[in-house]
Amino acid sequence: MPTPRAKSSSKRPLWIMILISMVCLSLILVHLNPPEYSPCYLLWSKFCNRLDYWPPPVPARVRTDEELSAKVIIDDILSMQISPPKNPKIAFMFLTPGALPFEKLWEKFFLGHEDRFSVYVHASREKKIRVSSFFIGRDVRSKMVYWGQISMIDAEKRLLATALQDAGNQHFVLLSESCVPLHNFDYTYNYLMGSNISYVDCFEDPGPHGMGRYSENMLPEIVSKDWRKGSQWFSIKRKHALILLSDSLYYNKFKFFCRPHMDGDKNCYSDEHYLPTLLSMFDPTGIANWSITHVDWSEGKWHPKSYRAEDATFELLKYIGSIDGSYHVTSGAKQVVLQKPCMWNGTKRPCYLFARKFRAEALDNLMNIFSNFTIF
Ligand SMILES: *[C@@H]1O[C@H](CO)[C@@H](O)[C@H](O)[C@H]1NC(C)=O
Ligand SMILES: *[C@@H]1O[C@H](CO)[C@@H](O)[C@H](O)[C@H]1NC(C)=O
Ligand SMILES: *[C@@H]1O[C@H](CO)[C@@H](O)[C@H](O)[C@H]1NC(C)=O
Ligand SMILES: *[C@@H]1O[C@H](CO)[C@@H](O)[C@H](O)[C@H]1NC(C)=O
Repeated sequence: MPTPRAKSSSKRPLWIMILISMVCLSLILVHLNPPEYSPCYLLWSKFCNRLDYWPPPVPARVRTDEELSAKVIIDDILSMQISPPKNPKIAFMFLTPGALPFEKLWEKFFLGHEDRFSVYVHASREKKIRVSSFFIGRDVRSKMVYWGQISMIDAEKRLLATALQDAGNQHFVLLSESCVPLHNFDYTYNYLMGSNISYVDCFEDPGPHGMGRYSENMLPEIVSKDWRKGSQWFSIKRKHALILLSDSLYYNKFKFFCRPHMDGDKNCYSDEHYLPTLLSMFDPTGIANWSITHVDWSEGKWHPKSYRAEDATFELLKYIGSIDGSYHVTSGAKQVVLQKPCMWNGTKRPCYLFARKFRAEALDNLMNIFSNFTIF
């Protein structure tokens, strides 16, 4: 049977030649395209580690014109040395559908400190008659605000734009109609003015209510690792307020790609992501990562606990005012509690200056408790 043997022996050199030429071809390919196709695919990783020039550095993405402009402006604002005015003030900015049930309580808080604060009110649904002299005539031009939509950020920017016109305002606090103070004015003023950071809530939530809201439409400017979450109730320095008003690039990303009812059932709320994401991208050490406004989410519902008249006790306010650790809970099946001490200018201190949500019916009790503000 010589025929098959002769056949197979005549084929062997052909197979060897094909094999050799394939190896040569792949070596040539690797040689021609070294950066994209690392030879580590072809070698043992043990040997690969010795090739210390692999893998090649990923080239930095070239910024778009808009990104470059935004970066230059933001970096310049951050490095500005703002010489503080003679009487630096805190701007208290109230965001409300209309009513301000605790005007009388705030009046008690403000009384005697007239040269150190200013008040602004954004009533998004209806203008109400104000009763306290500190609030009369302080309504700013306002527009409708829809829950969870970009109109919330627009209202915040409207308040900031009005408050920034007063050069005396150095710190800007956003409050709602259901917020109450936890300490007296001097304590609050020294806390905010004595530290050089903004109190913006900010954490990483890998769950559905955090990363789950990120959209790839945010690319290339906002990558997923920069995505942050936090409560909207901010308290910020003048430079951060200027950054928010100067930004349209990142704002527009949120306006178009972080909305309720996006892509069917996906919900994103700009007021919980825009500020923490933007400020942690550009000035991570300039924000405290917690909000100075306390709210109780412990009931685990869609809305935080709201305090009735009988809940508003001296003990409750003292307790909230003494909490000295911030904590965040990630969303989803695997809830992780993230806890951190509240550090103020290098020392551990209570975290909160304000608290929500108090119902209007709690006013009388609160007025009684705060009748002697000196103990707070
Ligand atoms: C903040 O800390 C620095 C250094 O520890 C200190 O010099 C400064 O006086 C502190 N500021 C306030 C307001 O206590
Ligand atoms: C704020 O002050 C601390 C010292 O109290 C300093 O270490 C830090 O760099 C300052 N941060 C900014 C953003 O100015
Ligand atoms: C806030 O968190 C960032 C990390 O996201 C960190 O770099 C920064 O130091 C934190 N801020 C303060 C005041 O600790
Ligand atoms: C308020 O409380 C402080 C400290 O407890 C006390 O010294 C002061 O007399 C009180 N003032 C009034 C008006 O009750």
